[in-house]
Amino acid sequence: MLFASFDLVSALATLAACLVSLTLLLAVSQQLWQLRWAATRDKTCKLPIPKGSMGFPLIGETFHWLLQTARKHLKLVLLPSAASSPGELVAGAAGGLDTWRSPVFSKIFSHEALESYLPKIQLVIKDTLRAWSSNPESINVYHETQKLTFRMAIRVLLGFRIPDEELNRLFEVYQQFVENVFSLPVDLPFSGYRRGIRARETLQKGLEKAIQEKLQNTQGKDYADALDILIESGKEHGKELTMQELKDGTLELIFAAYATTASASTSLIMQLLKHPRVLEKLREELRSKGILHNGCICEGSLRLDNINSLYYLDCVIKEVLRLFTPISGGYRTVLQTFELDGFQIPKGWSVMYSIRDTHDTAPVFKDVDVFDPDRFGQGRTEDKDGRFHYLPFGGGVRTCLGKHLAKLFLKALAIELASTSRFELATRTFPKVTLVPVVHPVDGLKVKFFGLDSNQNEILTETDAMLGATV
Ligand code: HEM
Repeated sequence: MLFASFDLVSALATLAACLVSLTLLLAVSQQLWQLRWAATRDKTCKLPIPKGSMGFPLIGETFHWLLQTARKHLKLVLLPSAASSPGELVAGAAGGLDTWRSPVFSKIFSHEALESYLPKIQLVIKDTLRAWSSNPESINVYHETQKLTFRMAIRVLLGFRIPDEELNRLFEVYQQFVENVFSLPVDLPFSGYRRGIRARETLQKGLEKAIQEKLQNTQGKDYADALDILIESGKEHGKELTMQELKDGTLELIFAAYATTASASTSLIMQLLKHPRVLEKLREELRSKGILHNGCICEGSLRLDNINSLYYLDCVIKEVLRLFTPISGGYRTVLQTFELDGFQIPKGWSVMYSIRDTHDTAPVFKDVDVFDPDRFGQGRTEDKDGRFHYLPFGGGVRTCLGKHLAKLFLKALAIELASTSRFELATRTFPKVTLVPVVHPVDGLKVKFFGLDSNQNEILTETDAMLGATV
């Protein structure tokens, strides 16, 4: 009995000693953390640096102050002198994105290039919707749209002609790579880091094979894809890109396109399910422009200028990207000390701007939580008041390079869904949406797709049934 109570006392004493040491350790590291930041103060500026613990570790009051103030003064945080890449958004994977910057990008995403990608994008989407419709089971939309955007990047953007099985295998490996991108850099057997490295190596091998085949086989190509443009531009500038640069570049391009576009595609499908009237209005617009006729898309009607003239479709895509912005924010390095609410933000600091908070709090948006594409319609144009209220693709010099391609892809998907598909929610209620790592439904969104037969199933009128979950 005596020994038992002695053991208890000694356990409690050890616990108390541990707690005291931990508190001391935390206090010392917080002081060091603050000292580290105080040392970065711009001495040529009289203003103090923001008070608090400088975000230690992402919970401190300075962090919250910066977020709140940045909401009020977003344009300051978004000064076009921004220097950092969104590499921080995608951790180590996008370190070399600068290889891709330069005028080459304007060619890759130019009007002509988008025009030439469009029929291929349409084909990839059509094939995918056919596969979804012929599946007797419901499909997991988020998983399938990830596959779809991966396919689009591989087949359209990079022009790789890999067989379907190989493409599916690469997709699985790619997913493993993405899942482990954010793991701690501890290279131990079975660790996420090790799995990520293995996946990256396998991917690089697959990409190398595809690039080599592409370089050898230039026959029968009717358009120049992004990789062709990149290789050609390299030659024009007297710089032959190495295989490693090509592999890194392709991987980075897929990375930038993949999660964001899949997230937005899933949100689009979810909103069309939730708002059958919006879908019906889309169909009306397609009919009025001669794109949708007798339940199918009229041949040759889908050209870039036709798509760009679809005003309501543009509003729908804008609203999806406002309410369900895939990327929550971005980072910038301060190039020049500036003032924010009486404090200095010194040169060299990293600041974060929040796209989601901006969309949530921008005064120009009425009823921010309501899905209402008409807010962008003629007469309201809520996005026109102020430059920094609507920024799903970021802003400044590091704005998204693929934004026109992304919007074109989403529009082509919406047109195909509205024209040739009927789809219904396969669960009793809509799933909750989670924000990390990109916005997506927690269960992936289970939906049953049915094809629309052009002879019998043209959707001409709104019925009560259509205004339920089935659209
Ligand atoms: C709905 C889909 C997409 C969204 C919401 C989106 C959003 C963004 C955002 C917020 C950034 C960071 C901007 C910043 O730092 O302020 C970014 C960067 C970038 N995005 Fe996108 N993106 C999408 C699709 C795409 C696609 C399809 C591509 C290319 C195929 C692409 C290529 C890039 C690249 C290369 C960058 C880096 C730009 C740079 O650092 O200079 N994105 N994107």
